[in-house]
Amino acid sequence: MEIVLTNTPEEATELVASLILDCLGEKPDLVLGLATGSTPIGVYRRLVEAYRRGEADFFQVRTFNLDEYLDLPAEHPQSYRSFMWRHLFDHINIPRENVHFPPSEGANLLRRCEDYDKAIAGAGGIDIQLLGIGSNGHIGFNEPTSSLRSRTRIKTLTEKTLSDNSRFYKEGEIQPGLAVTMGIGTILDARQILLQAFGSKKAEALRAAVEGPVSSICPGSALQLHPRATLFLDPEAASLLRLREYYRRTRQNEEALRRQGRL
Ligand code: GLP
Repeated sequence: MEIVLTNTPEEATELVASLILDCLGEKPDLVLGLATGSTPIGVYRRLVEAYRRGEADFFQVRTFNLDEYLDLPAEHPQSYRSFMWRHLFDHINIPRENVHFPPSEGANLLRRCEDYDKAIAGAGGIDIQLLGIGSNGHIGFNEPTSSLRSRTRIKTLTEKTLSDNSRFYKEGEIQPGLAVTMGIGTILDARQILLQAFGSKKAEALRAAVEGPVSSICPGSALQLHPRATLFLDPEAASLLRLREYYRRTRQNEEALRRQGRL
């Protein structure tokens, strides 16, 4: 795991967006794994701005979203499909057929979840997987105790996740209690993982994910098994990490080697 300690969420957002745009420059048919939630919104804004400036072309890009609420209609403002169109897809030139979400409505869900993993593999696998993390350590909707090798499937949401996300639902409105999510194994198949986490509410999850044991009780800790996972943290999210100084020095050393053209 590479830990990038930034001074602000904006700085983290800038770094992640630049990384994605650089990769897009090198590989126009980039395959992106995308996340929802408040954390990646700034990255999507920067991608849209780059497109508007003529600096990014999404025509050949293919996307696979991490998760979606079971049975929440696409047009519901809290569905992850409407989120993605609102924040990104409506504002760039990605063809509709290049955009993919896990199956979350209708029948044959198990088979269609398998098809989703196959579609990802068929696209050549995910080049960059963008991630946030839940305050209970979940990635996607892989709640604590999710199998570390799980594939796309249905998950029951924990009380913690339901209460964290209840702010998005009007009083009396039914909040979905189930979701379909890429599995932890699916996520770990991505060639590169970029996770962002901001604010003190994420500090405990980050402590467990980065410096705790690899354990399904903190799904984010599975990223320790990935050869190219980078975590971009603001000072509050990083506040409980014991090895902060070491992460800083590691980053400085890497930047120095990069400047010398040795990487
Ligand atoms: C949801 C999503 C996750 C996301 C998490 C954190 O539960 N399923 O993919 O990482 O929320 O959301 P936020 O970025 O709003 O803190």
